[in-house]
Amino acid sequence: MQYGYFDDHAREYVITRPDTPLPWINYLGCQAYFGIISNTAGGYSFYRDARLRRLTRYRYNNVPFDLGGRYIYVRDNATGDYWSPSWQPTHSDIEQYTCRHGMGYTTIGSKRRGIVASTRYFVPLDENLEIWQFTITNERQTPATLSVFSAIEFCLWDAQDDSTNFQRNFSIGEVEIADGVIYHKTEYRERRDHFAWFACSAETAGFDTQREAFLGPTRGWDRPSAVERGESSNSVAHGWAPIGSHHVRIILQPAETRQILFVLGYHENPKDEKFDPPDSQTVNKKTVKPIVARYLNQANADAAFQKLRTYWGELLGICQVTTPDIHTDRMVNVWNAYQCMATFNMSRSASFYESGIGRGLGFRDSNQDLLGFVHMVPARARERILDLAATQLPSGGAYHQYQPLTKKGNNDVGGNFNDDPHWLILGVAAYLKETGDWSILSEPVPYDNQLGSEQPLYEHLQRSFHYTLDRLGPHGLPLIGRADWNDCLNLNCFSDAPGQSFQTTTNKEGKVAESVFIGGLFVLAAKELAGLARHSGHVDEAPGYLAEGARMEETVRRHGWDGEWFLRAYDDFGNKVGSKECAEGKIFIEPQGFCILAGIGLEDGLARRALESVRKHLATPHGIVLQQPAYSRYYLHLGEISSYPPGYKENAGIFCHNNPWVMIAEAMTGNGDGAHDYYSRINPSAREAISDVHRCEPYVYAQMIAGRDAPTHGEAKNSWLTGTAAWNYYAIVQWILGIRPAYDGLKIAPAIPERWTGFRAVRKFRGVTYNITVQRAGPGNTVKLTVDGQPVARNVIPPPDDGRAEVTVEVTLQ
Ligand code: GLC
Ligand code: GLC
Repeated sequence: MQYGYFDDHAREYVITRPDTPLPWINYLGCQAYFGIISNTAGGYSFYRDARLRRLTRYRYNNVPFDLGGRYIYVRDNATGDYWSPSWQPTHSDIEQYTCRHGMGYTTIGSKRRGIVASTRYFVPLDENLEIWQFTITNERQTPATLSVFSAIEFCLWDAQDDSTNFQRNFSIGEVEIADGVIYHKTEYRERRDHFAWFACSAETAGFDTQREAFLGPTRGWDRPSAVERGESSNSVAHGWAPIGSHHVRIILQPAETRQILFVLGYHENPKDEKFDPPDSQTVNKKTVKPIVARYLNQANADAAFQKLRTYWGELLGICQVTTPDIHTDRMVNVWNAYQCMATFNMSRSASFYESGIGRGLGFRDSNQDLLGFVHMVPARARERILDLAATQLPSGGAYHQYQPLTKKGNNDVGGNFNDDPHWLILGVAAYLKETGDWSILSEPVPYDNQLGSEQPLYEHLQRSFHYTLDRLGPHGLPLIGRADWNDCLNLNCFSDAPGQSFQTTTNKEGKVAESVFIGGLFVLAAKELAGLARHSGHVDEAPGYLAEGARMEETVRRHGWDGEWFLRAYDDFGNKVGSKECAEGKIFIEPQGFCILAGIGLEDGLARRALESVRKHLATPHGIVLQQPAYSRYYLHLGEISSYPPGYKENAGIFCHNNPWVMIAEAMTGNGDGAHDYYSRINPSAREAISDVHRCEPYVYAQMIAGRDAPTHGEAKNSWLTGTAAWNYYAIVQWILGIRPAYDGLKIAPAIPERWTGFRAVRKFRGVTYNITVQRAGPGNTVKLTVDGQPVARNVIPPPDDGRAEVTVEVTLQ
């Protein structure tokens, strides 16, 4: 069953009924001002940090699930009938409901009793504000006398404090109203230099800023008494819960259309110009007034919207493909790339499953996210890499997370995840392959943000590498530390106190438990580091890295191979995890994917055997589960992984983040059919027809799909902010379609399904547009290519040195 459809041409997903199984959301903003918005206008906005600078209030895990947002109410003043065109919060009967989620904007509207109303929400580029373009048309035969009310609830900035510290918060709310603009200035009297403002382009008949006055003391957002009465009370909030609501009266003739703009913004004043007059407590509005005026103008708002469209058109235009599979095309060309930008902007902080309070930017997550967006915003990728590296510890280890506002390591979330440092090597390698900007390696970067500790970025990568060599276990495999990629495989925790955090509780010293996964990761990092050394004046060091990599590869073969697949780990007692000898958790996905990614077993058939084991034991129609059999109970020596009921999350859920590792492994062994088959199983667009099972948005990946041990097998959860976005993008574009940046040019090495006759792609790379046509001439993956008609011996195409801005690449697969 479907709840909408893709409008591929418009790059929109169109939702045609409001009662989606879960809120289906979109992001507004892509620089500093952000919002999340659901298909019924739920959600909230923030400036830079979803915890510390939250503009509007949102209550997570609410009933109904998604309540609180950017609401508009329409009232028919002749009858008293009122409704919200976005369905929530009034739940009235409406016709023609549509929500169009597009690139950085969302339009929601419907019709009731001959009145058609819709709102387009977006954040203009380079501004700290959001525009609601509200359009209303009278399709009746008679004039309509209407009222329009806007409604938002202000958050008192720190979202954590806002939802806990009521003894203080009920007394601090402050607003000002001037020229119809509502200013939210809680705490501005003291240390804040910022305020929020909410303006309306039409003449207002009234306003409300105190929630209780607007709703009535015992009511919710579904039946505000001001709307029911048809009149605001011009309330001025003192303490309690400040809101922003405008009331506009309009008369619409038959067929007449009117537009009203509502604009919500964030503004900072210089410290010494906060008040006007200076010795007063009145907000200085001189600095913000020109901005307010600019965006209350229809033409300016339209122009800002067009600019946003162009921006996304250009970003997405960097890589466009036409294949025989529509699901591949729309994910690659639009939605997966778009989701990669969201994970870049948000990391794992703010979605409908991430509260915006708990988590900063993850060290390993952010490095992996790079894979998905580096080609779109290379300059920002560079900055992100340097920020991440600056939080690295002198030991080469890493804080697990850092805070976006301060850019400092976040000690609360612990460290000692022994895989963390290597992701920096992979992130930097991805950046260099895309850009060829070798200068980044000599950038001075501090350790742990300590002034004076700066060393070239290259040295940071060396320390990442040595971090593992300094921490080898009894078998010569890397010690796992608190956990590796799998946060929940906690082999040193032995946590027995309810509620204790697996992420931060005191660990055993951990001199025994080892990770085969990190072994594979290390081998891959060694190869990347060697490649990077060779290209950057450290040629002598390359053989050393390769030798260490080869030694680890040998160790993985000797102690990390279980007969039919790669082992997962050794626990604190030196016993195997992920082995046929185990009663539960016999086989895990991660080492199969990652050891092969590192090239282990490609020559001698181990890789194929491991992949056949994956197919036999882990593959389901909904994707590949993380391990089997699921853990049926809690195991003290395994930790959080066994805390989840079977089939969910890391306990045998389909963790979509690591499915692409297997896709890539399949592609590396030449099995394009297998790779694309796995790709399609979790591709959200390909699952659109089973939206009632999948339940999350059909246009973005979710972190998890319930595994076969769960009663809800096939149900997705935690959409949007997941490493799944970057890895799937990387798997399909770089390994299945095989368009892969390399240090010295663009490599073309497709591993597509045998039935595909070919595909086309346009890829902008280092300033050159590559127009690529791939044609199948035989069943295999052997590549023959010409560039502008000239046969080329290798399948790496260096950017032309004669200034050509465009090249034509013809590829035959044999
Ligand atoms: C979550 C975390 C990620 C981790 C994964 C597996 O997605 O953000 O860092 O690797 O879970 O535990
Ligand atoms: C939980 C999640 C896991 C995440 C970890 C860190 O364990 O299951 O996916 O990585 O928390 O926050």
